[in-house]
Amino acid sequence: TPRETIPGKLLEWYDGHARKLPWRVPHGGAVDPYRIWLSEVMLQQTTTAAVAPYFAAFTERWPTVEALAAAPEEEVMAAWAGLGYYSRARNLVACAREVAAYGGFPDTEEELRKLPGLGAYTAAAVAAIAFGRRAVVVDANVERVVARLFAIEEPLPAARKAIRAAAERITPERRAGDFAQAMMDLGSGICTPRGPKCLLCPVSADCRARAQGDPARLPVKAPK
Ligand code: ADE
Repeated sequence: TPRETIPGKLLEWYDGHARKLPWRVPHGGAVDPYRIWLSEVMLQQTTTAAVAPYFAAFTERWPTVEALAAAPEEEVMAAWAGLGYYSRARNLVACAREVAAYGGFPDTEEELRKLPGLGAYTAAAVAAIAFGRRAVVVDANVERVVARLFAIEEPLPAARKAIRAAAERITPERRAGDFAQAMMDLGSGICTPRGPKCLLCPVSADCRARAQGDPARLPVKAPK
């Protein structure tokens, strides 16, 4: 990934500016798929700040997927209280039990997608971050960054196809997980919905929305 490309610049920026989030700390020297999966399920519909204390409590109480699989469902539900969207907690237990029975997490996006609670986003995120697979990881933050980089004018939700195709073109073969998390960090701290901080952005020179003068205009949303 040459440094002058969009993914090259983003990865270089990520190396110096990644948010230090609990699930990004390597555990026992290696990436632990259990911790990546747990964090990504918790982060569906919940902010990083709200997730952090729950992630710490869960990993302390249930340090492995086998430990979580052995827990009574009511205890997991009680520990989840406050995070909301309780179907996520029920799927969490079901998924842990399947994975423990199988002997570990599957390591491809396609197989991960079959587990309870893993939609397209979560399967791609775990494949890329935990297993180093090249997977295209698109959440709402990434959608906004891509819509701006490529000046995609089509309104959401119809634009999702074009956004995914553009994200596919800039996803690197190597370090796709770091690339995805760099896009998330860019979207959450710099390429924000209003008042994007283009002067701090590592790819502002490549951004077509910025070249046009008003990046905050994108993405366009279809009237409800
Ligand atoms: N939101 C969802 N997954 C995330 C991650 N890995 N890092 C930061 N924010 C996220």
